[in-house]
Amino acid sequence: MSDQADMIWWKTGVIYQIYPRSFQDSDGDGVGDLRGIKRRLPYLRELDVEAIWLSPIFASPMADFGYDISDYTAIDPLFGTMSDFDALLEAAHPHGLKLLLDLVPNHTSDQHPWFVESRSSRDNAKRDWYLWRDPAPDGGPPNNWLSEFGGSAWHYDDTTGQYYYHAFLAQQPDLNWRHPQVRAAIYEMMRFWLRKGVDGFRVDVLWHLIKDSQFRDNPPNPDYQPGRPPHEQLQPLYSADQPEVQQVVAELRAVVDEFPDRLLIGEIYLPLERLVAYYGIDLSGAHLPFNFALLSAPWHARALAELIDRYEAVLPQGAWPNWVLGNHDRPRVASRVGAAQARVAAMLLLTLRGTPTIYYGDEIGLRQLPIAPDQVRDPFEKNVPGVGVGRDGCRTPMQWDASPFAGFSTVEPWLPLADDYAQDNVVNLSAADTSLLSLYRALIALRRRQPALQLGDYQPLAAQGDVLLFRRVGGGSSLLVALNLGAAPVAVLSEQFSLDGEILLSTFMDRAGERVGATLDLRGDEGVIIGPVPDPIV
Ligand code: NOJ
Ligand code: MG
Repeated sequence: MSDQADMIWWKTGVIYQIYPRSFQDSDGDGVGDLRGIKRRLPYLRELDVEAIWLSPIFASPMADFGYDISDYTAIDPLFGTMSDFDALLEAAHPHGLKLLLDLVPNHTSDQHPWFVESRSSRDNAKRDWYLWRDPAPDGGPPNNWLSEFGGSAWHYDDTTGQYYYHAFLAQQPDLNWRHPQVRAAIYEMMRFWLRKGVDGFRVDVLWHLIKDSQFRDNPPNPDYQPGRPPHEQLQPLYSADQPEVQQVVAELRAVVDEFPDRLLIGEIYLPLERLVAYYGIDLSGAHLPFNFALLSAPWHARALAELIDRYEAVLPQGAWPNWVLGNHDRPRVASRVGAAQARVAAMLLLTLRGTPTIYYGDEIGLRQLPIAPDQVRDPFEKNVPGVGVGRDGCRTPMQWDASPFAGFSTVEPWLPLADDYAQDNVVNLSAADTSLLSLYRALIALRRRQPALQLGDYQPLAAQGDVLLFRRVGGGSSLLVALNLGAAPVAVLSEQFSLDGEILLSTFMDRAGERVGATLDLRGDEGVIIGPVPDPIV
């Protein structure tokens, strides 16, 4: 258990991801915006999250909905103006709410003035800001690297007869992070936002920044499963996670550290053993390399227990853990695990050791919405149709109330709304004492009150079948968390450990105060948190 010095906001608090297009529209164009977010600050305050992270709000042609940036220091008019941004920041901070921005340093839009210059001629001063290569002898792409969004990662440019590299869309050319001027330009841009007072960044595809200097071919992936996205046919041995990226990560961290109390999060999809390298040598890297293990883990108690142990085991000394249950790229948790287990998942997320990140709408149980082919907006799904990679279904509008467009907008939103919004919305769920939203609020409140949940150690307990069992110990307290990942009732017996205590919270929200002794009966799909019995009041 750690001391006072560890009571840092990004360790003790909860992060909440907002996909700005889909949170709240304020100007009746069917797309969410900054004034809309500002209007909803009281909701976030009540939920009691510590920080919000906004997916990109910068000037962009929107080929990848903002992850293709044409001006890093301008707000896209779709989302509002710079004064709207300043007003949001000024309103959030007195609420005690931190604001994190999305930093997209790996690539720009092909409309960014840097790239427009770079592509204009081979001897342009910005030519080497991007990755240009000659065609292969047969005129084809310089190597076999594949774009994550389908097809070759190389785009032939007629003007100069060379190819440029793009890990994602052709409209998202990769910057050359070996170039000192590129680094300096991005660091200066970070300072622009940090000076304004933003509390940190979530860094897009951090593990992609440096590529092999020789551009060697990637080897085939022997584990490729037909039906999976085509880029998985190769192992990204040379196109990502290169040793030299660690220097860049340390530099990004150093920029953030020029300002007090700021946070650097990295988006990194790698096996846990590789992921933790992004904490950096002596923790000089990201404060939180996002841990996405729960996004793809099979929802079985034994598999999860093993995964949590593995993560805890590979964390470097002093590194602070974190857990993510959903984001704007992956299917909604309520659809992955089902509505009943979504409550158990919430309890898991908010009782594990480490900073939890909640994806907007997961707290009201938004499901993955099936999208008709003619309604697809996501470029990934358009390029690689039919294999289930579409991301529109997890980006549907927030459901605030039962009014015509769910209180999200006054017009048809940019993506369809789920037709359950008349029931499943913030107003209704707030009024229902045992709703998923009420459970999220109770879990966050309990976490705030219990130092053991915020900073305590994680101690796994032996369990069988569908039961996941662990203790959180610290701050003079010890809590037991028991989760039933199955639909059948189960009895947990205290043979090797004590169950003594009282139930602080059940996922069904109807057992608080119940004493537990030798046996703990869990209903199907139930999770409980057991705390010490309070001293009698004298
Ligand atoms: C990761 C982002 O989360 C995703 O939405 C985006 O499409 C790619 N990076 C490319 O920027
Ligand atoms: Mg709008």
